[in-house]
Amino acid sequence: SRSSTKELLLNAEKSGYAVGAFNVYNLEGIEAVIAAAEAEESPAILQVPITVHYDHGADKHDLLGALEMGFDSVMVDGSHLTLEENILYTKNISSLAHAKGMLVEAELGRLSGTEDGLTVEEYEARFTDIAQAEQFIDETGIDALAVCIGNVHGKYPPSGPNLRLDLLKELRALTMKKGVSLVLHGASGLPHELVKECIDLGARKFNVNTEVRNSYLQSLKKPEKDLVQVMESAKEAMKAVVAEKMRLFGSAGKA
Ligand code: 13P
Ligand code: ZN
Ligand code: NA
Repeated sequence: SRSSTKELLLNAEKSGYAVGAFNVYNLEGIEAVIAAAEAEESPAILQVPITVHYDHGADKHDLLGALEMGFDSVMVDGSHLTLEENILYTKNISSLAHAKGMLVEAELGRLSGTEDGLTVEEYEARFTDIAQAEQFIDETGIDALAVCIGNVHGKYPPSGPNLRLDLLKELRALTMKKGVSLVLHGASGLPHELVKECIDLGARKFNVNTEVRNSYLQSLKKPEKDLVQVMESAKEAMKAVVAEKMRLFGSAGKA
């Protein structure tokens, strides 16, 4: 059955696991996540760039559209703005979304993409600042905070991810005090042990895009003439990745 994003995250908090939020682009993607959720008896969040959780809302008009369309939750992404602008932007959308009973996630600090070509200093300057995080939560009234501790969208360097777990721990203490859920974007490419450590340190929602998308694209490359079979195989490939994440996040069996 369908429950709200808020309920999913509260349950995850109560039992100490994390919920996967999977980006989907088409019907096969939606069906794959639902099939994996059913097979694993796991809660899940569907993330779509146009229409259930509205991911990375960096444009006010798009977000206002998402509010109208009746999403369960939205991510207000003002991470490209200055702190003051991000607070104003997030607070504004947050009050409108809360009036509709929606959960609001926002980002502080700024996630990099692998291809951004930043120097180490530039990259680290984008990490979430703890004092700013407290001000941000207090002034915006958000429900979930996406943090940057070295997590990146897309691939990690060959040397692997280098996450500041000490910072995650501090952020967790803060978000616990404020009753806010801790979110990690960029979950594709995080090794299993690291994901488990992050959950132990309080991460309650992981965003997964690249790994699901790549499994789909890989599957489409296989020679196959029957279009129905092409779509079925691609869906199965995505379902396998999603189901594996559900077991890793500890959400399998929790629906
Ligand atoms: P990845 O592509 O690294 O899984 O990141 C997904 C994400 O953060 C979507 O918002
Ligand atoms: Zn993201
Ligand atoms: Na990633």
